[in-house]
Amino acid sequence: MTAVLDAPCQVADLTSVTEPAVLGVPGQINLDYAATAPCARAASDAVNEILPWYASVHRGAGALSQRCTLAYERARQTVGDFVGAREDDYVIFTRNTTDALNLLAHVIPADTLVVTFAGEHHANLLPWRDCLRLPVPGSPGAAVRSLDSALRVLRQGADERPLLVSVTGATNVTGELWPIRELSLVARRHGARVAVDAAQLAPHHPVDLADLGADYLALSGHKLYAPFGAGVLVGRSDWLDAATPYLAGGGASAKVGDATHDVRWATGPARHEAGTPNLLGAVALAAVCSALEGSDRAALAAREQALLHRLRTGLAALDGVAELRIFAEDAPRVGIVSFAVAGRESAEIAAGLARRGIGVRDGLFCAHPLARRLLGEASQRAGWTQTPATALRASIGLGTTGSDVDAFLTALTAVVAAAPSTTPTTSACTP
Ligand code: ALA
Repeated sequence: MTAVLDAPCQVADLTSVTEPAVLGVPGQINLDYAATAPCARAASDAVNEILPWYASVHRGAGALSQRCTLAYERARQTVGDFVGAREDDYVIFTRNTTDALNLLAHVIPADTLVVTFAGEHHANLLPWRDCLRLPVPGSPGAAVRSLDSALRVLRQGADERPLLVSVTGATNVTGELWPIRELSLVARRHGARVAVDAAQLAPHHPVDLADLGADYLALSGHKLYAPFGAGVLVGRSDWLDAATPYLAGGGASAKVGDATHDVRWATGPARHEAGTPNLLGAVALAAVCSALEGSDRAALAAREQALLHRLRTGLAALDGVAELRIFAEDAPRVGIVSFAVAGRESAEIAAGLARRGIGVRDGLFCAHPLARRLLGEASQRAGWTQTPATALRASIGLGTTGSDVDAFLTALTAVVAAAPSTTPTTSACTP
């Protein structure tokens, strides 16, 4: 792999912004950051540094093991600081956001009602046992009003169950930001806790639990330039300590007797981290958190917004291309754009782009209800008689340049202008 080091921004109205470097391959343009971001140089350096020392975590007296244990616990601290973990919060390493939200679903009191929106990623739709899905709102304000009235009705009905409002910070389909602070205020007023799916938000904006008004936050390392298999759930310790371990096994147990169920479970993060921990994942994630903390994140965001503007303007200029959106056209969003092409299969367009060295995602983006709805709305706005079954998505981040965006637009123009490929195409992932 070749490092794309401190790539200067090629957008005319921005001065060069130094950004954490990411790894890439010459000739390949990756516009699929929302699925999995490239590896940051900081992550690979941190992994290479610890690898010679690699040994057991929490299990050995040797110098190697001691160092790995220290690195793992330091990583926990760093990641916690990155999201503003409070005194009584636990930082629990998981595999990714899906795993983190499944862990949360496991630990919430059994009678908890989870309230979310139908526009969520499957990771925030499917894990919940008892869930009220509010309809996809037409605006951030409508989201707040809809939550308020749903919670009011629940509480007026003398529903005393614990309530958890679980929402995304930025949707993976369109990149649009959800009004987390306002939703949290409403939730709090009705005595509900709040969980934020920050998988798409954290790579683009600073996230802070207290600032968001959140009790829990989940994110994935692989979307945060740290593709070594770690994510986190950060949040209030009480439910986490009260629940049975997410995984039963060594590390989660404080004492195991001879009888079948004679076990005293550990408290603290260890309770839900049974088995040998993913040291490399934790170290990589912490390294990226540190690198981002050390960057001018406002400048990085401004640079990304300039590239996003270029991308969206270019798409809007193409005949037969319609952008997907939940809210108004100018609603704030991170560097993600989904779109459809009239009368064409998204898999065929994605394959045409791939032949030109450009990677995008196509399908329904593991958010089927939302993507289907937005495809219908976009087709209607565009006046198409048929709604495409699936969409395409371009997403950007650290290391993306203006010339990447231009190359994508040029390639897309060519693919759209060409006759549809007759080669059968399959989506890289079940949409
Ligand atoms: N959630 C990931 C995506 O949006 C997989 O592509």
